[in-house]
Amino acid sequence: MGAVIESRGIVKAYGGVRALNGLDLRLGGGRLSAIIGPNGAGKTTLFNVLTGFARPEAGTISLDGRSIERLSPQRRAQLGLVRSFQVQQVFPALTVGETLTGAALLRAPLAEARRRARAICAELELPWEAQPAELAPGQARRLEFGRCLATRPRIILLDEVMAGLTSAEADFMAERVLAAHRAGVEIVVVEHVMEVIRRLCDEVHVLAGGRIIASGTFEEMARHPQVVEAYFGTRRSYDAA
Ligand SMILES: Nc1ncnc2c1ncn2[C@@H]1O[C@H](COP(=O)(O)OP(=O)(O)OP(=O)(O)O)[C@@H](O)[C@H]1O
Ligand SMILES: [Mg+2]
Repeated sequence: MGAVIESRGIVKAYGGVRALNGLDLRLGGGRLSAIIGPNGAGKTTLFNVLTGFARPEAGTISLDGRSIERLSPQRRAQLGLVRSFQVQQVFPALTVGETLTGAALLRAPLAEARRRARAICAELELPWEAQPAELAPGQARRLEFGRCLATRPRIILLDEVMAGLTSAEADFMAERVLAAHRAGVEIVVVEHVMEVIRRLCDEVHVLAGGRIIASGTFEEMARHPQVVEAYFGTRRSYDAA
């Protein structure tokens, strides 16, 4: 069965601002999930906390029932929990092939890591020898996703991997994300592109005021009065926009 990540009572403050304020959330278990919320709602902070890049002041995080909140990002990644970065974080001196191989080495010996990196590079139509600075924006996003896939993950948290893509690039990425999910990888996306969420996701969680204020299908969330107010602003609903 799929992996489950569960967080309870998460508090994360920056100065006086409580980015997360008693957040409870269960993700995975075979459902492709989205987390939506206005700019500054705390979506990236949530991914940082789940993956160990930020330490919460309070709360618990478990992966398949095992407490992980004291583990480093590297240890969590070794357990299969990885994330993409909203702002790309690659070593500019490495090629695409080296970046993917390096990620695969987290959970595989060199020969296998190289094989895996080659396969992902081909699947995502990336240039093996190129350096990150030479990549087009769409390719750079795919490299972020590829870095996650290379680690043989159980759960991938994707932070706006569709942002700034052309519609053809977004379609390609969506297909690859769905393929990974069908292959058994749990996927959680943070996205602003509603059409992507509508197409990809089984469930949507709405983050506002540091908590999940509502969860359900895309259609349910697009009609939910509290969600419409918090997220869609003055618009009546997504459909009416
Ligand atoms: N490292 C940090 N230092 C100080 N404040 C931070 C830090 N990271 C996040 N914050 C604050 O926490 C709140 C949540 O930010 P976060 O980046 O998680 O939002 P977000 O939902 O990902 O927004 P966006 O949709 O713009 O990506 C914001 O008020 C932000 O200014
Ligand atoms: Mg963010």
